[in-house]
Amino acid sequence: MSKRVVTLAHYYTAPEIQQMADKVGDSLELSLYARDANADVIVFAGVRFMAETAKILNPQAEVILPDAGSTCSLVTQTDVKRLKAWREKHADYVHVSYINSSAEHKALSDWIVTSRNVDDIIAHLYAEGKKVIFSPDRNMGAYLNYQYGYDMPLWSAVCEVHDKFNETALNEGMAAVEGAKYLIAHPESPLPVLKRADYVGSTSGMLNWVKSFQREPDATIFVATEDGILYNMGLARPDLKIVQAPIYAGCQCNQCPYMKMNNVERVQRAQAGE
Ligand code: 13P
Repeated sequence: MSKRVVTLAHYYTAPEIQQMADKVGDSLELSLYARDANADVIVFAGVRFMAETAKILNPQAEVILPDAGSTCSLVTQTDVKRLKAWREKHADYVHVSYINSSAEHKALSDWIVTSRNVDDIIAHLYAEGKKVIFSPDRNMGAYLNYQYGYDMPLWSAVCEVHDKFNETALNEGMAAVEGAKYLIAHPESPLPVLKRADYVGSTSGMLNWVKSFQREPDATIFVATEDGILYNMGLARPDLKIVQAPIYAGCQCNQCPYMKMNNVERVQRAQAGE
């Protein structure tokens, strides 16, 4: 009997990779899909921690990452031995970890969150009177502390893609555009960028914000996240002017090198089990 192969792709992969997938989504959607997929083989066109998460949630499936080198700076900047010591130093705290972390990192955590459910889960823990430490994303943690008045001690790693967004380039880029303009941003971006955003949320959250946009029809929407999602936004709302936030003058070109390792040939080979 032939094996049932399911292909998942994150929004940050290139359009041609998304077109090869059974499901395209944000981290939370893809994790849930992987958990419930009645699949013998899951081809995960994303990065390593996503494939690891799929394996944790669906251990009987064989999970294939098309390029074994597709890591994430949040993982490579986190030394797990140091993390363990940090956790031990905060023994009376609940350790909440962002899903962009290795399996070893997750094993040292009490809760795993994604950019979609992090606000609700931490609010729940604070409502129960818990003290919380947050890792590994310093920018996301700083935003949560700022937004909700928390005082969570933070681990210090960043997404090398989102961390490039900055206020100076944003101010210049937005000033150069006439008319109504909006900024939407992923919470892995630096705090000064998030503070001026009209909406902060996961990739799916930003996509939904764009889908339901009903303000000035000629507005320009700046998007502070990896450029893959602009494909989905363009498909959903071809009537809108949607551009990536600049990282320096003239450069709207911020890509995740690891997500872009998922090329057509590698995904096809993974689907064929080679
Ligand atoms: P979401 O898919 O949760 O928006 O996160 C994006 C991301 O950080 C992928 O590495």
